[in-house]
Amino acid sequence: MSTWSPSSWRDKPILQQPTYPNKQELSRVLAELKNYPPLVFAGEARSLKAELANVANGKGFLLQGGDCAESFSEFHANNIKDSFKAMMQMAVVMTYAGGLPVVKVGRMAGQFAKPRSSNTETLGDITLDSYRGDIINGSEFTEEARVPNPERMIRAYNQASATQNLLRAFASGGLADLHKVHKWTLEFAHQGEVTKKYEALAEEIGKSLQFMEACGITSKTYRTLRETDFYTSHESLLLPYEEAFTRQDSITGDWYDTSAHMLWIGDRTRQLDGAHVEYLRGVKNPIGVKAGPSMDPEDLVKLCATLNPQNEAGRLNVIVRMGAGKVGDGMPALIKAVEREGLKVVWSCDPMHGNTIKSSNNYKTRPVDAILREMKEFFQVHKAEGTHAGGVHMEMTGKNVTECIGGSFTVTEEDLSSRYHTHCDPRLNADQSLELAFLIADSLKEAHK
Ligand code: PEP
Ligand code: CO
Repeated sequence: MSTWSPSSWRDKPILQQPTYPNKQELSRVLAELKNYPPLVFAGEARSLKAELANVANGKGFLLQGGDCAESFSEFHANNIKDSFKAMMQMAVVMTYAGGLPVVKVGRMAGQFAKPRSSNTETLGDITLDSYRGDIINGSEFTEEARVPNPERMIRAYNQASATQNLLRAFASGGLADLHKVHKWTLEFAHQGEVTKKYEALAEEIGKSLQFMEACGITSKTYRTLRETDFYTSHESLLLPYEEAFTRQDSITGDWYDTSAHMLWIGDRTRQLDGAHVEYLRGVKNPIGVKAGPSMDPEDLVKLCATLNPQNEAGRLNVIVRMGAGKVGDGMPALIKAVEREGLKVVWSCDPMHGNTIKSSNNYKTRPVDAILREMKEFFQVHKAEGTHAGGVHMEMTGKNVTECIGGSFTVTEEDLSSRYHTHCDPRLNADQSLELAFLIADSLKEAHK
């Protein structure tokens, strides 16, 4: 294999990139970004890798969630706080029922660039270049907004940096306190008939906390009850930006992408000889690769060989996104090929991207039923194959949005217009996310009894 460098991806075919009209401005911005401080440290990426190695070995579960696309206009401390809270609640429910540590990774602090199915978007008789995420161009349907502007990378970096700072504060400054998190979950479970089935589990968790308290194990006395590790991730799509944050670790001499702890390759940019695979093969962060229905099992084996030549546990996360009703068709062959070669991967389920539909009133939405069904199928197939269902990768927010239809507090097609705030794909709201967490908790309990 040819030698790798932070810029060797530039010699490979590349998809899903903007064309910047002003090349001089692009070079100026990239030179500036190269001097900016890293957002994460190599040592943190190594800790995450060690935690994911446990998951790969069947001793943990990966919870990865956040916005489909972060945006400049939705940037607010409350949004970050609510998503953090929702993920902590999910993690507690899953840890308790599954009896396994839950590794928490936000799709946050840098999840800006979006791959698109089409290069253009047409409304009426006007056709414009597609919106590619706030780090690239604007979502407004005007010609000016859609011109890629390099300066947006600087704003995205600043927003990612402030977000990362707040997440670090939440993780160690009291918002991760187990007693507090449990109180929020109780509020969910006590909301009435629809959430009654969750009450029993919530009560059990409460009793365990009381028992520990009686034994002197409280969040005051034990740091691990009030603090957590919360990691960040995004799709490694806009490679000039990622290259600017590729830094050599002074301790090991290895290269890391310091824009996030974990990076993944999207389903549209995972070509073996393509630029995105080339870039990520050379950095030492934990990485993910999406696997949709078109993933060929032998290609997955080759991707593992290229992206994880040492077959290191915790390095590679395969994020399967087949769609409800299709997991049984597509996933067994992928698992069999990986098992045949003795490859170590973390298997995650992305129950979102294979279940996107258009509502009759023209909203891009996802039925919660389909999301829950795909998650169940993912657990069933792993059970049948004797492998570990290792994680979930989801688009969610802690806000009470109305973007996905169904769930215990039924969101209807008519409700979609009331709080539809996403800049790209529809996200689960806080209640719908917690409902998914309870389903995962049940499945983990079943799988590990
Ligand atoms: C995403 O995760 O937002 C995404 C675009 O996913 P995929 O690459 O699986 O389509
Ligand atoms: Co998405």
